[in-house]
Amino acid sequence: MVRKAVIPAAGLGTRFLPATKAVPKEMLPIVDRPLLQYVVEEAVAAGITDILLVTRQGKELLEDHFDRAYELEARLQDKGKTSLLKSTRTLPGGVTLFSVRQGEPLGLGHAVLQARNFVGDEPFAVLLPDEVFLSERPCLGGLIETYRELGGPVVGVQEVPPEEVSRYGIVDGEEISPGLYRVRGLVEKPPVDAAPSRWAIIGRYIITPDIFPLLAGTRPGAGGEIQLTDGLAALASRRAVYAAVTEGRRFDAGNTLGFLEATLAFALARPDLRPGVLKIIEREIGALSEEAAPTSGERG
Ligand code: UTP
Repeated sequence: MVRKAVIPAAGLGTRFLPATKAVPKEMLPIVDRPLLQYVVEEAVAAGITDILLVTRQGKELLEDHFDRAYELEARLQDKGKTSLLKSTRTLPGGVTLFSVRQGEPLGLGHAVLQARNFVGDEPFAVLLPDEVFLSERPCLGGLIETYRELGGPVVGVQEVPPEEVSRYGIVDGEEISPGLYRVRGLVEKPPVDAAPSRWAIIGRYIITPDIFPLLAGTRPGAGGEIQLTDGLAALASRRAVYAAVTEGRRFDAGNTLGFLEATLAFALARPDLRPGVLKIIEREIGALSEEAAPTSGERG
């Protein structure tokens, strides 16, 4: 059973400044719910019951979002606004949220290391909150199934275009069945000509607790940060680690263009918003082509 999940959310979110000066990146909304809520919902849908948020000073809002809001609830109840009332209950029953501080943002590997006591001796999931998925079934659910079948750590991967390879952890693996690889090595943010493949780690992992001593000994790598990818590479040299191609459309909402793409795709996926959004898109395209069309005075 994989019951526990770790959500690292202690980063600085510099790519979204100034928005993230006072508001955590994980609280930026896609349509009408913050990024963090999507990953919590994905984890819960995959059977996770205990969630650890790795946060830092100034990110108290992340916990507040999953707390009960009694005054608001009472007001909505009085007004009979039951569907809004339901929407404020952001943490499903039976799920417990924990949090731990990462004193300094020393990297994703260091953030995951803060989960050592929470995890104990169980396998656990890691979900990065700036990656969101549109898929029939939760992305994490598929990885948990693979873990159950193989009994070893599994990283979710998707193929990325060459120009994006240097933004991701990249897997070197041997295909053992369609869409499933045994990992030979992992490298964080390689230049495209040195990358072993185009299989990028997509921010969803099932990891075993034997990673912790390895993470504790991991030196800063790419970008001067303690990288989870380097800890996993050390793990892969000691035991079988797998990479599974994940289903569904993935959005890297950690950069502005990816965030906008996710916003559009999630809005278009909502039957109540789709017609309105399509109209807006048509209008904007119309305005652009009017701008681009030469006026009669400019012709000839
Ligand atoms: P990112 O590098 O994408 O996020 O880390 P960031 O550092 O917040 O954003 P930029 O790069 O400055 O714009 C991926 C995830 O790992 C967490 C981040 O919060 C994010 O969810 N993280 C990263 C930590 O929790 N601690 C760290 O030291 C670094």
